Amino acid sequence: MTQRRARRENGGTPGTEQMPSPFIDSMMPFNLTADSAVPYLLDRGVIARAAARTATVETLGGGVSNVVVRVNVPGEPGASLVIKQSLRRLRVAGDWFADRERIHRERAGIDYLACALPPSAIPRVVDEDKGNFLFVMTAAPPDGVNWKDALLSGHVDTAVAGRVGDILGAIHQRSAVTDAGIPPDLQEFADQHCFVQLRIDPYHRAAAAAHPDLADAIEAEAGRMLNHRRTLVHGDYSPKNIIVSGAGASAAVFLLDFEVAHLGNPVFDLAFMLNHLTLKAIHRPGLAQQYNDAARSFWAAYLAAGGDRAGDAARLESDTVRQLGVLLLARVDGKSPAEYITRDEQKDYIRRLSRAVLGGELASLDDIHRRLRMTLLPAA
Ligand SMILES: Nc1ncnc2c1ncn2[C@@H]1O[C@H](COP(=O)(O)OP(=O)(O)O)[C@@H](O)[C@H]1O
Ligand SMILES: [Mg+2]
Repeated sequence: MTQRRARRENGGTPGTEQMPSPFIDSMMPFNLTADSAVPYLLDRGVIARAAARTATVETLGGGVSNVVVRVNVPGEPGASLVIKQSLRRLRVAGDWFADRERIHRERAGIDYLACALPPSAIPRVVDEDKGNFLFVMTAAPPDGVNWKDALLSGHVDTAVAGRVGDILGAIHQRSAVTDAGIPPDLQEFADQHCFVQLRIDPYHRAAAAAHPDLADAIEAEAGRMLNHRRTLVHGDYSPKNIIVSGAGASAAVFLLDFEVAHLGNPVFDLAFMLNHLTLKAIHRPGLAQQYNDAARSFWAAYLAAGGDRAGDAARLESDTVRQLGVLLLARVDGKSPAEYITRDEQKDYIRRLSRAVLGGELASLDDIHRRLRMTLLPAA
């Protein structure tokens, strides 16, 4: 593997053998695939010819909005790279389009967070190709497992959940907007249109359209997310974007996927993560207590890390629970339904839970956990 590539857009890297490039020298847009990844990295001077000959490639799945390819160079542990290119049309059943420029936001998010988090907790940007809507980053540790996969397989580690809360608290703490206004290094996250395209429209507004009697309540929660610009918000803080190495007290987490990062309401990240844990409790009722414990551990660690800057944990919790009420409904009747919630009775259960939250019957995490304990449906 070569050293970090200095060139970002044009011109060659000194000392690198130049070849006619099918990607850089033509006006043709480059489409990232498993086949094109290694020649592309070679063209860009990111990897050397010897490394390109032995490299192996793997398309990474999971997301619907990008092509993500991992390139491993044998014999060079830790030298794996990941290339991510944004798509305009998302791979979901209905039509859903998003601006490809969001990939630049993602790169900016990683660079910003490099100051807030330990280097072991986020990728490092190795190369950026703005014209082709992609960037190259370092890969998560090779022994890492996707936390979503671990959770779904029944491996619920509350210490990992704590670490996940800890990191979110650090992000929100570091990026808090003060009375002096938006700090200069956060200005580039002020535009919220990616958040609207990828979250508010397909989640909140799609759920509101499916439940007209809840539309005002849902719109009020959407407004709370858009209008209270308090911190950098990750926007996709979910288990599938967290890679875990190790277990228990020595577990380390590696955070991914910053394309929805924006200046907004930290409540969104809290509710988004809790939504994933709640949906998993409904999906696997036999493990509900463990998912609930993980949610508690996440919440406590977030508060301990200074996430609640206003010093009003009760208010933060009630705002988070209301947002959770909307997000639960969105993962059933929005544009991106949770793929593992398949049974009609589970969907109805989630709709009822959401309505109980938005109607004010369930106002705290304890209320929700108690309701889950008392009413969860048996597994199919
Ligand atoms: N730097 C990386 N190291 C290891 N795995 C990665 C890396 N980036 C992405 N992945 C894997 O690829 C999947 C999709 O990437 P992600 O950035 O989350 O794209 P999307 O926005 O499409 O969800 C992730 O869930 C993760 O499993
Ligand atoms: Mg992702």
